[in-house]
Amino acid sequence: MTYSTITGLGFYVPEKVVTNQDLTQYMETSDEWIRERTGIQQRRYFEYGKDTNASMATAASRMAIERAGLQPSDIELIVFATITPDYFFPGSGFLMQRELGLEGIGVIDVRNQCSGFVYALSIADQFIKTGMYKTVLVVGSEIQSTWVNKSTAGRNVAVIFGDGAGAAVLQATQDADHRILSTHLHADGRHAEELYIRDPGSSRPTRAATKEMVDEGGFDVVMNGNAVFKHAVVRFAEVINEALAANGYRSEDINLLVPHQANIRISDYVRQQMNLPEEKVMNNIQHYGNTTAASIPIALTEAWEQGRVKRGDLVCLAAFGSGFTWASALIKW
Ligand SMILES: CC(C)(COP(=O)(O)OP(=O)(O)OC[C@H]1O[C@@H](n2cnc3c(N)ncnc32)[C@H](O)[C@@H]1OP(=O)(O)O)[C@@H](O)C(=O)NCCC(=O)NCCS
Repeated sequence: MTYSTITGLGFYVPEKVVTNQDLTQYMETSDEWIRERTGIQQRRYFEYGKDTNASMATAASRMAIERAGLQPSDIELIVFATITPDYFFPGSGFLMQRELGLEGIGVIDVRNQCSGFVYALSIADQFIKTGMYKTVLVVGSEIQSTWVNKSTAGRNVAVIFGDGAGAAVLQATQDADHRILSTHLHADGRHAEELYIRDPGSSRPTRAATKEMVDEGGFDVVMNGNAVFKHAVVRFAEVINEALAANGYRSEDINLLVPHQANIRISDYVRQQMNLPEEKVMNNIQHYGNTTAASIPIALTEAWEQGRVKRGDLVCLAAFGSGFTWASALIKW
């Protein structure tokens, strides 16, 4: 049997730190409110002219490729998740491919919002298990600071999101003891409008509707925070338990849970439901906010750098986001 295993991890965050206090110059909010409701203390914002979604992804990928002991030319396929590409189309995966000098290899453009990285990982895992590719680069990258509405009207959303990129190199292995054990993907489109951006899509009759789009706030994120919270806590636990059950494990077997960094209160709630001690759950939302598709690879990379992911460990990745989507991956490191 051929399986896949993660052999390299990397991340990149822009230099510019934006604290909660910094946000008070744009909107009515406070450090206290943001910390209490979300756990976030600061996030990073890209620097126009220096960072792009693709350049951040390239930096994260180069780190992951180097740590895997490989050259960019060893990569056979790119699976790239983002909801904030540099262009409306094509996706930033193509721009990153160009920056890495990998013209000719396949690029799969994935959206899937905050579950984007786990979906992308699952896609890569399938391609490796079928034998079609041996080395696949999986990336999540987001620049969200350009589209959040930083006025008081958009504060419930704006304070949450940040910019950054993370990447993982997956390689084929025959070693059944150290591999991605399984991935589990779910979605429920009935809740699509609980967290979405309407424009620029095809939900309007003509292109001439641009002014209407702006006037109606069609480019703003619409989020029913309460609904997201309630669904998230249920789905996170469900999809983690699904991954454990599929492989004959119980929650106490988990060495590290790396949840999508949506909100510290969601992570805490899930941790308690799963009966896990604090040290078994990775949280770095304090420093980066919610970086959507980049959040899990950034958190996983930091955990690995801190020595919290060791060979033989049982690591669970779990995500929830717009769509609604939710997904998990169980990995024997
Ligand atoms: C967004 C979230 C933090 C809001 O917390 P909440 O406790 O539900 O707060 P509410 O939306 O009920 O708002 C409470 C009050 O705070 C205000 N408020 C909202 N954002 C604020 C901000 N940034 N600063 C200060 N006050 C704010 C609201 O206007 C409201 O005021 P009112 O009572 O006078 O009407 C919370 O719902 C949440 O975390 N949801 C999940 C979001 C998420 O994870 N999204 C990403 C999914 S991948």
